[in-house]
Amino acid sequence: MPVTVRDIRAFKERGEKFVMLTAYDHPTARILDEAGIPILLVGDSVADNILGYPTTVPVTMEEMLHHTRAVARGAINALIVGDMPFMSYQASFEEGVRNAGRMLKEGGAHAVKFEGPMTDLAHALVDRGVPVMGHLGLTPQSVHAMGGYRVQGRTERDAQRLVIEAEEMAKAGAFAIVLEGMPSEVARQITESVEVPTIGIGAGPHCDGQVLVITDLLGLTDRRPPKFVKAYANLRGEIARAVTEFRDDVAGGSFPDEAHSYS
Ligand code: KIV
Repeated sequence: MPVTVRDIRAFKERGEKFVMLTAYDHPTARILDEAGIPILLVGDSVADNILGYPTTVPVTMEEMLHHTRAVARGAINALIVGDMPFMSYQASFEEGVRNAGRMLKEGGAHAVKFEGPMTDLAHALVDRGVPVMGHLGLTPQSVHAMGGYRVQGRTERDAQRLVIEAEEMAKAGAFAIVLEGMPSEVARQITESVEVPTIGIGAGPHCDGQVLVITDLLGLTDRRPPKFVKAYANLRGEIARAVTEFRDDVAGGSFPDEAHSYS
């Protein structure tokens, strides 16, 4: 059964923890969907995890649509959330509404996510039938403004600001809110004060759900992962082993053998 935003809200109502994963391509979307992952986020993290950009800042609306379409073609049941790239919604309200619409119409997403407490935009999108996922705390598109990837909400004042932002995003109609890079206690306070589910990344165990970037979870990157990442596989090592074995088989004459040749 296709997952809807109502199902996501119901997780919190039942007190059932859930997950979201990023997906950027068709085969990964198929695997995650078949595994029953309820939400696939076509994150703007495609920029630094797949496309080789140094941060998420350069990725464009066209690139996001390209990857969102691939994921949408692969997933049958998962709720697909298209991430709004930097400057696709910050320059003007109208542009934000139009680009969010493109995520659904051209990308095949079921919902959009954007960073920061832009409550007017959230309200307008929800009013126009576009489900919105919020994203508060460490917002990577603001890396240059933050002076690096810094945990947010460390002072009492900042923590209170985050709680208020989350409450306002929930009031504006967001169906879920990603909480990134903040102390566990701040995420707990937010999770207890909003009715909609929170989805944590680097925000401790008290969120209603958890999200990881798929390349981190699978051990595909060569970067030192941040503290909050748990790699559940070492695909980088496995891929290196497989391609080296192929090269050696060809060099040694054992591939292709009869079983892999036409008579
Ligand atoms: O783009 C992304 O991967 C994200 C997650 C960190 C939530 O926004």
